[in-house]
Amino acid sequence: MTETAAPGLAAPAQTDVSHRVSHTTTDWWRSAVIYQVYPRSFADHSGNGVGDLRGIIDRLPYLSDLGVDALWLNPFYCSPQNDAGYDVANYYEVDPLFGSTRDAEELIIRAHELNLRVIFDIVPNHTSIEHAWFRQALLTAPGSAAWNRYHCVRGLGEDGSRPPNDWRSVFGGSGWSQILDPDTAEPTGWWYLHLFDATQPDLNWDHEDVRAEHEQVLKFWFDRGVDGFRIDVAHGLVKSPGYPFSGESDRVLGVADDVPVLPQWDQPGVHDVYRSWRRLADSYDPPRVFCGEVWVSTPEAQAQYLRPDELHTAFNFHYLKTRWDAEHLRETIDHSLATADSVSAPCTWVLSNHDVWRHVSRLAPENPQGNQDLSTGMARARAASLIMLALPGSAYLYQGEELGLPEVLDLPAQSRQDPIFARTDGAALGRDGCRVPLPWTAQPPTFGFNSTGQSWLPQPDMWGELSVETQLRDADSCLSMYRQALALRADESIFNEGTLEWLSSPVDTIAFRRPGRDSVIAVMNLSDEPLTWMAQKLLLASSSQVTAEPSTQNHALGLVVTLAPNTAAWVRE
Ligand code: GLC
Repeated sequence: MTETAAPGLAAPAQTDVSHRVSHTTTDWWRSAVIYQVYPRSFADHSGNGVGDLRGIIDRLPYLSDLGVDALWLNPFYCSPQNDAGYDVANYYEVDPLFGSTRDAEELIIRAHELNLRVIFDIVPNHTSIEHAWFRQALLTAPGSAAWNRYHCVRGLGEDGSRPPNDWRSVFGGSGWSQILDPDTAEPTGWWYLHLFDATQPDLNWDHEDVRAEHEQVLKFWFDRGVDGFRIDVAHGLVKSPGYPFSGESDRVLGVADDVPVLPQWDQPGVHDVYRSWRRLADSYDPPRVFCGEVWVSTPEAQAQYLRPDELHTAFNFHYLKTRWDAEHLRETIDHSLATADSVSAPCTWVLSNHDVWRHVSRLAPENPQGNQDLSTGMARARAASLIMLALPGSAYLYQGEELGLPEVLDLPAQSRQDPIFARTDGAALGRDGCRVPLPWTAQPPTFGFNSTGQSWLPQPDMWGELSVETQLRDADSCLSMYRQALALRADESIFNEGTLEWLSSPVDTIAFRRPGRDSVIAVMNLSDEPLTWMAQKLLLASSSQVTAEPSTQNHALGLVVTLAPNTAAWVRE
């Protein structure tokens, strides 16, 4: 660990972590705020234009000061990087692009010193075509034993020239690629399945090697102290036997779409995998935890993954997809809480991640000129985040959302790297717009991302105004709001457990109480009119400026708080 401060920032002040939960608390994940670090875009220590593990180590004090409880890192294992590291060639080694296995170990140790827990990302649905198993299979005839670890299936028609069924790739195009003869490069009439890019062959989870190997990978990192794993495409591992046609239309599935019940997703056999993983995680002290990426069509289907002997948590994408609509929001929150509760699991709220439009842009309405009204988008995003942080359960923050970064929509075609862009011939822009490197300082060209001026994706000019450095100086900035809300959340025991009680509120607004010794009330104004709310005591936090004046009519009522449209606040009763 270097002692020098990260580029452009003064050495961080000593952090007071005394208010945080102790590292031995075993159910920390039920109410934790977990910060998603997208390593290639977080901080670049080496200066090669791609973020790295040492860059993350440099910035751990920032995360500790922000007030989060844990971090989740997207994959940094050896990979040809055809899908930004979700195409893993070796699960036991760090890709030199990001550092070394020693750096990963040091990151865990340094994070733990700051009372930050660390979650890595496991990618069990598929490997890279450069994984040793796939390379070995390519050297043998299709249908041979080495191919059985993948889905290698004879094509339709006499010569097998048509794919075995109609399964689509999530990234566009067919989910099957033809296996070519290694000597003649002629089609063999056999195909391999890839529900994502052609360089990401799906593994066959009916094969004992596949199950055993992944448990070895989990143990390898658990033994190095990692606190848990986020599970990539957790609902995809097991496929319906016999590869039945799905009847799926020819549309491109976005990863942000609800995945309908199809024979290649959400099959009952997947639950056995997680029962076995849970036994392994529980054998550690403290027990390790899992968060599944489970894109299924209903909260009920998701709850199946959260039964007490399976995964601890799963991202609640139903909340992420909620429209800017008070009724819809209330229903989604209620439905999510009830279904998670039915299996004694906490809800895991999330508004942004590396696969979806950043919520500033998603929530931005169109202005009369047909452009996005980003200032309303920003106000709504702040309000939505403040409400999310008041909900019972845990919350995931995606790097840069604390800065209010919007989606970058005007990246030049030649900079785009997401395979979705290429596989759809540019019809779908893909996910690069939410992966642009973070601005730490106001200093172009790379705004403190590194000191060499290189960046794997270009950063917009507005990044300077949105930088950490600029926002730390402004008590009303988005970053200051997150810091304040997280500090309050850490101090107030009511946020650690318990329930939510809805309060009646005017149309197009929501209000709920988190009951406890000193209840907190969260109010949100989704209407076009100002909302007034009577509060007994303090105004704890707000997403934008709100006015709070003593009631002139009745002093016992305390304050009259006025929230502008697109604003949320936490108050005391
Ligand atoms: C998940 C990841 C996404 C990746 C895909 C394939 O959806 O979040 O980024 O492209 O899986 O691994």
